[in-house]
Amino acid sequence: MHDIHKSESASENLGIMVQSVGGMLTGEDDAISGLANVSSIINCYLGDINWAGFYLLKNGRLVLGPFQGLPACTRIELGKGVCGTAASRAESMVIDNVHEFEGHIACDGASNSEMVVPLFRGGSVCGVLDVDSPVFARFGSDEAEALNKVGKIVSDFLETVEL
Ligand code: SME
Repeated sequence: MHDIHKSESASENLGIMVQSVGGMLTGEDDAISGLANVSSIINCYLGDINWAGFYLLKNGRLVLGPFQGLPACTRIELGKGVCGTAASRAESMVIDNVHEFEGHIACDGASNSEMVVPLFRGGSVCGVLDVDSPVFARFGSDEAEALNKVGKIVSDFLETVEL
């Protein structure tokens, strides 16, 4: 059982989100369980989002993992969409208006902005964290910093579990 302690302040909630992800993964030894709870924590603490979850690299393409939100496309080729582009560049990407991103893959028509953070295992990309919002430019520098921290914590966790 994990208590949710949301603050009135959005920026405090970003800090609580990062801390909660660390706490949630401490002692966890199963990848799916850990990632499922991380997607839930992001969904609890980050307002104005409509999708938060993971794609994991399997046989050279991204395969849908644990998430919160509407059903999503299950396979994304490297270099395709925001997820496949962030994975192939091994760089986080913040897209203020997904309709202006050529090749954006629309899973939920309500999404207007998106952030994708690559995850690493053994120094190589092993998947991505993807968060979508119906609000344009939802992911400012504070959100980007917090989600990059979540990505680092999740990457450290993935080093310790079987995938
Ligand atoms: N928009 C993503 C696809 C995944 S969904 O948003 C959940 C992309 O362009 O890669």
